[in-house]
Amino acid sequence: MIQFLNVSKFYDSDTVLKDVSLTVAKGELAYITGPSGSGKTTLLKLIYCAERPDKGRIVVAGWDLQKLKQGTIPYLRRNVGIVFQDFRLLFNKTVFENVALALRVRDAHPHEIKEKVTGVLKEIRLMHKADVFPSHLSGGEQQRVVIARAMVAKPTVLLADEPTGNLDAETSGTITDLFRAINARGTTVLIATHNDSLFHGTGRRVIHLKDTCVEKETVG
Ligand SMILES: Nc1ncnc2c1ncn2[C@@H]1O[C@H](COP(=O)(O)OP(=O)(O)O)[C@@H](O)[C@H]1O
Ligand SMILES: [Mg+2]
Repeated sequence: MIQFLNVSKFYDSDTVLKDVSLTVAKGELAYITGPSGSGKTTLLKLIYCAERPDKGRIVVAGWDLQKLKQGTIPYLRRNVGIVFQDFRLLFNKTVFENVALALRVRDAHPHEIKEKVTGVLKEIRLMHKADVFPSHLSGGEQQRVVIARAMVAKPTVLLADEPTGNLDAETSGTITDLFRAINARGTTVLIATHNDSLFHGTGRRVIHLKDTCVEKETVG
């Protein structure tokens, strides 16, 4: 589903990733970890073309990203859901509208939008907050809405960057359960985190980045 072949990425003269090769299979839920600055965010950005590699080849859901023209990137992104810190909720729109937006940009029919948004809001157990503005939600609830927004279009791949960043352990557990449920339905999930406790005991694959390379792989 996701394949990196000898991928290198430089920012000016700094090497962030060097000759990285890795494969994440269809239907897998895997973690990327490593110290701050080890390139986790960059690796995820390369998958949805927010950054381009300087060397090597990346294939995502059958798309060879090297051959992808700028105008085709939106089609790739329809298949890739993202839960990133720099994609916050819109605070002047309700919870329902924040989630609906992911479908409105695709010209979905209003009836379909209502049905799908209601479905995911029930799944994240926030249906009762549908008409509330994000500023009235707790941090964990806001993050569930961010995940709902990424889920609603049923992406083939879901990428999450430090998804439990500022949340307490109990709320983090809820978020982790949500990712597992999404994965159980067939979505390939890749989660970047510097927090060991997130994958400890999960039995899932953990890819460790260190000094620009994949240092090792372990089972969480
Ligand atoms: N847009 C950018 N321009 C220049 N340097 C960057 C940019 N983004 C990240 N970096 C640098 O690349 C390295 C890896 O960053 P990042 O991928 O954010 O790591 P992580 O997510 O593991 O903390 C860091 O040294 C960071 O300062
Ligand atoms: Mg990061």
